[in-house]
Amino acid sequence: MMDVKSIRDISLEERAVLMRLDLNCPLRDGEVTNDARIRAALPTIKYALEQGARLAIASHLGRPKGQVNAALSMESIGARLSELLEMDIVLADNCVGDGVKGVLQNLRSGQIVMLENLRFHEGETKNDPEFARRLAAPFEVFVNDAFGACHRAHASVVGVLPFVQDVGAGLLLEKEVDGLSRILHEVERPFVAVIGGAKVSDKVGILEALLNKVQTICIGGAMAYTFLQAQGVKVGTSRVEADKLHVARKILKGAEARNVTILLPSDHVVANEFQRDAQAQIVTSVDIPDESMGLDIGPVTRRAYAAAIEGAGSLLWNGPMGVFEWDAFAAGTNAVAAAVADCDGYTVVGGGDSVSAIEKAGVAERINHVSTGGGASLEFLERGNLPGLEVLGG
Ligand code: 3PG
Repeated sequence: MMDVKSIRDISLEERAVLMRLDLNCPLRDGEVTNDARIRAALPTIKYALEQGARLAIASHLGRPKGQVNAALSMESIGARLSELLEMDIVLADNCVGDGVKGVLQNLRSGQIVMLENLRFHEGETKNDPEFARRLAAPFEVFVNDAFGACHRAHASVVGVLPFVQDVGAGLLLEKEVDGLSRILHEVERPFVAVIGGAKVSDKVGILEALLNKVQTICIGGAMAYTFLQAQGVKVGTSRVEADKLHVARKILKGAEARNVTILLPSDHVVANEFQRDAQAQIVTSVDIPDESMGLDIGPVTRRAYAAAIEGAGSLLWNGPMGVFEWDAFAAGTNAVAAAVADCDGYTVVGGGDSVSAIEKAGVAERINHVSTGGGASLEFLERGNLPGLEVLGG
């Protein structure tokens, strides 16, 4: 662990504690569809309650852009947390102001209030010092356990610190930093990265950073078609970022110069339209017919990626290999999930979609570190630190 202050070094007994969590979970019709982030926060919440904290939980949910949006209320998250903890949770109708102060006055040691969505105020993402001061005002202690938001220099992640007496990292934050640091600092070779997802632009930073660390990168998802087109391969109607072809070429050149092997799809699962029930077909060549779009990696590519993964001493996986939400285009992502589970090396999986795939395949127990952070885990691996950790002394 970096030299970050820990929740274990602070007295919480009878104190008003502001705990920042990342409870940004997917919702459908007001129900939480994946509660992994809530479950990951439970050890720190339980620890604080056992220590006698008067606990206020704060999180963002979605991107409401400074406006109150009932569909992004923390109510549904609070309801799920209450079920998991088997206790009542008070829901505040704001995250700042007299209402919060009033609720806190009546909150006893071992009880929880869930504050309303931090991003209903634009001061949160702008890291406005006045908003940070108001958020921190009723509290003596600040605990950050929101690893997934630590790459955001927002008021509730960095701005509040000067306004409280004691600060500390939560148990999830410590676990994330330990789990990810190992792949940065004690790496076993060969180090293999599997990077997927829709956009090259989201992954440029991590790809460039990985070129100096890994021996092999397997690329999948829609971003693979930008790489293939950059090499002159025909990609039909596949999704391509025309303005990122030069970036893809630069990464390919950088890999060549450093002796890093980049594996790209050599066969594909395609369809003629972007539809769940579209007729899936296998294209055995690297070129995709004019009228087809690639929606998953093909069987030969699956085997090649699985072979690279199985031989890895260290393995990082972020991003799906295809449109895995649709069964006809999920085989590539499932094959990667199975291979990562079988890998004897140290394995790290990050990013919501890859984590969902791992959970759906029932292999989460066989991964060394499953990160709750998407952007945060990539930025940590890229830079070795994050704004939210730096202010805690990291
Ligand atoms: C995430 O889902 O990666 C985190 O909760 C951060 O959310 P954001 O990208 O909206 O800042």
